[in-house]
Amino acid sequence: MRLLICFLAFFIFQKSINCWRFGGGKQAGLPVVLVPGDGGSQLESNLTGKPSVVHYVCAKQTADYFDLWLNLQLFTPLVIDCWADNMQLVYNTTTGLSDNMPGVKTRVVGFGTTESVEWLDKSKASQGRYFFDIVDAMVSWGYKRGKNIVGAPFDWRKSPNELNDYLIQLKSLIENTYRWNDNQKVVILGHSMGNPLSLYFLQNYVDQAWKDKYIASFVSLAAPWAGSMQIVRLFASGYNMNYYRVVLPPSKLRGMQRSFTSSAFLFPSPVSWLPFEVLAETADKNYTVSNIQEFFTDINYETGWEQYKQSARLNGNVTSPGVPVHCIYGTGVPTPERFKWDKGYFPDYPPTEYYGDGDGTVNLRSARFCQTWKDKNNGKDVTTHEVFQADHMAILKHPNTIELVRKAIYQQL
Ligand SMILES: *[C@@H]1O[C@H](CO)[C@@H](O)[C@H](O)[C@H]1NC(C)=O
Ligand SMILES: *[C@@H]1O[C@H](CO)[C@@H](O)[C@H](O)[C@H]1NC(C)=O
Ligand SMILES: *[C@@H]1O[C@H](CO)[C@@H](O)[C@H](O)[C@H]1NC(C)=O
Ligand SMILES: *[C@@H]1O[C@H](CO)[C@@H](O)[C@H](O)[C@H]1NC(C)=O
Repeated sequence: MRLLICFLAFFIFQKSINCWRFGGGKQAGLPVVLVPGDGGSQLESNLTGKPSVVHYVCAKQTADYFDLWLNLQLFTPLVIDCWADNMQLVYNTTTGLSDNMPGVKTRVVGFGTTESVEWLDKSKASQGRYFFDIVDAMVSWGYKRGKNIVGAPFDWRKSPNELNDYLIQLKSLIENTYRWNDNQKVVILGHSMGNPLSLYFLQNYVDQAWKDKYIASFVSLAAPWAGSMQIVRLFASGYNMNYYRVVLPPSKLRGMQRSFTSSAFLFPSPVSWLPFEVLAETADKNYTVSNIQEFFTDINYETGWEQYKQSARLNGNVTSPGVPVHCIYGTGVPTPERFKWDKGYFPDYPPTEYYGDGDGTVNLRSARFCQTWKDKNNGKDVTTHEVFQADHMAILKHPNTIELVRKAIYQQL
């Protein structure tokens, strides 16, 4: 029966595609490229002979690549120290670039597929569930993994200025996805840091003509456009990464987290934090976006200031991307807005937190910075959508998010 109606409709309206879509048939919408966030891509490592290790139990050499992120089995006492040492980067202040620890090779797996961004843990443990719910919904609407929904995983430990090869690959992936899908424009769907990274891509790697040809829209989920206060705590005391549903001891993670240049990229930006607003309060001194160098000196991590100068302002004043934007973010979840360390606690011990609005990880002011792009986006639309009580990770499976994504990729937003 549906076939007959569609057949008639095709003759009358010449609109077979819409007929299938609304007639209950499965017709995929625009092709989608997923750009994951901080911690949102699988990483593998091969140890080729580390000159030193942190415990006798840590391997110096392995025969082949193994899962470095995310592998929950590595989060046991002692083994976690080996893991953090293998994850750590070494920053060269002369070149402004970071590298793996000596004797550690790493690689990102699954570029162009969705696998390594659907689940971060190859065993598919629930803690590692990532883009799965969105991809699964899209498949039920007629999408095919690897064809019209593809993933662009990257080494999320690094700041965009160190991801040149990746950003060139991302450009090709978008062009190919367009071609493989009958020259349909592509939707970039980012989560978390994947969004400021995509903004950097759109502003530095392609011109307006390219954007007009290849990009239908940029759908951002939980974007820290202007950074996140969690980063201040991360640099000072370490951060337990509980937003990946993995609870780890902050003190064990600090050295590793400080070494990631992506951390500096996500430092709270003066575009959103005023010069006199206190980010970190200690018995002796208050820190704001105006005395960041002192902050790094006082936490005994001077390298942080070099990383900050290199990476924190890569998106300048965070101006609009010049493509249609649908900016989706969680609200109503207590989110650290300011930290206070009592006498003797700074920087090594966890601070007292004072909360504001946001998604638990990204402060609301940063998530909704995209609102400032309205009417300033080269004539392209900017829509913003709040998902109440969707935390930074839960937003990926919230029914409202999935419905907004559906509307965006079927061009109904
Ligand atoms: C991994 O490293 C070892 C040295 O420890 C090397 O023999 C082996 O070829 C490497 N494996 C791969 C796949 O590169
Ligand atoms: C940093 O890079 C420079 C230039 O490539 C090199 O000469 C220097 O040895 C590097 N420093 C370290 C500590 O690796
Ligand atoms: C830090 O700021 C708080 C208010 O935000 C103020 O009460 C306190 O006196 C300041 N401390 C220092 C050392 O300036
Ligand atoms: C950013 O905005 C500030 C203040 O409006 C301005 O002084 C600065 O030149 C801008 N920077 C860039 C890179 O546009």
